[in-house]
Order: sequence, then structure tokens, then C-alpha cells
Amino acid sequence: MKQFIHKLYARGELSKDEIVYFLQHLDPESRNELFRFSHKRRLQKYGDKVYLRGLIEFSSFCRQDCLYCGLRASNRDAERYRLNPEQILECCREGYRLGFRTFVLQSGEDFWYTEDMLTHLVQAIKAEFPHSAVTLSIGERGEDTYRRLYAAGADRFLMRHETASRELYEALHPSMSYDNRRTCLRMLKEIGYQIGAGFMVGLPGQTAEDLADDLLYLKALNPDMIGIGPFIPHDHTPLRSAKPGTVGDTLVMIALARLFVPDALIPATTAIGSLDGEGRELALQAGANVVMPNLSPVSVRKKYALYNNKICLGEESAQCRHCLELRIQSAGFSVDMGRGDSLKSLRQQ
Ligand code: 5AD
Ligand code: FES
Repeated sequence: MKQFIHKLYARGELSKDEIVYFLQHLDPESRNELFRFSHKRRLQKYGDKVYLRGLIEFSSFCRQDCLYCGLRASNRDAERYRLNPEQILECCREGYRLGFRTFVLQSGEDFWYTEDMLTHLVQAIKAEFPHSAVTLSIGERGEDTYRRLYAAGADRFLMRHETASRELYEALHPSMSYDNRRTCLRMLKEIGYQIGAGFMVGLPGQTAEDLADDLLYLKALNPDMIGIGPFIPHDHTPLRSAKPGTVGDTLVMIALARLFVPDALIPATTAIGSLDGEGRELALQAGANVVMPNLSPVSVRKKYALYNNKICLGEESAQCRHCLELRIQSAGFSVDMGRGDSLKSLRQQ
């Protein structure tokens, strides 16, 4: 096992067979060795810094029907809300006062927000906070829309590929196309966005081969950001009784992602923090280097329920920001409130 870790550390890649073997034979000792190396790589690339992003979940309406997600269109029990552009701007203002310089605007796929509305919103945010980065996470749209939003000043775009297995993707996304998702990611990258892809760990039916394909896909795509979180069932979805992913498996995938794509920004996700009180700290120690505290108004927080038992639902943004800073420091890292651009994007400037 050790030779795999050393080879991966030296070359930044392994074959599919090697990854599968590694995942299937991972013992506690090699797991720790893996984390030691992913931590080393992270320190070498990004030092002990952890970048904070202000996350604004601005709409819980979604036209898609992903089997795992609490916001799926068929979930009649979901409480839906929309923040209007002025309310979204107000969240950015609060975030800016707290020191945030990246705003992540995330929503379900909600076409109530037209291309015009989103364009004006991005322009307004960039006009008020010209040195801040705007990240969009609004799902699949057309190329023209992506181009216009980029021209309006949007810097980054997050869109997880969710799983690299076509079969699993199609089973979980009855309303969507595997190929179109990948086309969107390529398109976003080509337009010039810093892009974020990523996947869930522990999806029902997911195999070691599938996870190997996730890593190989990410290696080939070479995104600026990689979001990896455990699958957590939501009570009002068809997967309510499925087994959740584990913290341990998620940490292994984070560590491998750090070694496969060393320059990537990797968040310690809310999902891993929701499975385990120390989950985000453990993720940082396994190679993650970003945390995205919630800037949404507390009144809507619990309505953005992707999965059960999500954390930070009651805390005001300021409390959450403070809580996180303490957690990051006690895990041995330091908070960086800058824009936190990826190394890859900085090299291209
Ligand atoms: N468990 C874990 N992650 C989920 N997501 C959606 N539903 C769940 C769930 N039940 C993730 C998806 C999506 C991101 C915003 O949240 O990967 O891209
Ligand atoms: Fe949100 Fe602690 S990180 S309350």
C-alpha cells in the first residue's frame, strides 16, 4: 500500500486498477500514511491557510428531481423560498462587513431568476464590491447565459459532476443528462470561469470503480475547486432509507483528490460537518483548505434542506464566522479572508 501512496505523491496519478486496489485494501495504517502525505502536499501548496467563502443559498426552488436531494421538485413537503436581488445584495453587505471577499450564490435550478436578473445581480455585486469574487452555483443553463454572467463579472462556477459513473448518474438523475452535465463543465471552463466539480461519497450502489473514475475524471478536467461530501439521506426523498456515506470514506477521497489535483481548492463541506461534529476539522487535516459558512438569513436556513441534520441552521452569520475561526485555529490552521483564488488561476494571470 505504501508504494501506491509514494507513487501518487511523486507523480500525482495512479491507474484505475491501482486506485481500486488501494480503496479495497486500505487499512488504518495506510490510511494515516495517506493523510500524512495529503497534508504535506496541502502545506506545500497552500500553507496552513484556510479560505472562507460566504455562502448565500438564495432559492430552494428546483426544477430537477435528483433522487438524493431534499430540494427535488417532487418533494411536496419542502418549504420553498426565494430571496430577491436586494435581499441577496444585503447578504453580501453583511458578509463584506464580516470580512468575506468571496460570495457564493447557490440555489436550486430556479428559472424564476432570468438571465437578465442574474446578470444585473452579478453586476450590482461587482460594482459594490469590486475586489470580491462572485461564485455562482445555479446549475445547468445555456452557453449564452453562462457567457453573459461571466461578462457581467462572475468569477467562478461550482457544479459538481455528482458521480463519474454514467449508470449511477442516470439512476439518480431521472430528469437530467450525464453528457450535458459534463458539457456544461467544459463550457464553463472554456468561457474562463474558475470551475468547481465534485462528487458525493457513499451513494447507494456506488463502487470503488466508480470512485476511481471520479478521481480520473477530476484529474483530466483539472478544475480549480473540488467539492466532496458524504451522501446523507433526506427523509422526504426516495433514498430516505439508504445508508449514508461515512466520514472515513469521505476523508480518504478528499486526501486522494488533494494528491491527484494538488492545486485544487477543496472545501471541508457542511455535509461532512453534519455527519460528525469534528468532520470539517478532520477534512482540513486530510487536505481540504476551504470552508463555506452560511450567510443566508437565519429565517430561511432550515428550508435549504438538501439532507437530514444539516448544521449551522440557527446561528447568525457573525456567530458562525466566529465559531468557524475558532474551529479552524484549534485544528491547527489559520483563516485567510482574501479572495483565495486557485493556484492554477493565479498562474494564468
Ligand atoms: N447528501 C449529500 N449531499 C447532497 N447534495 C445534494 N443532496 C445531498 C444529500 N442528500 C449535494 C450535491 C449538490 C450539492 C449542492 O449538494 O452534490 O451538488
Ligand atoms: Fe456555523 Fe459553527 S461553523 S455555527
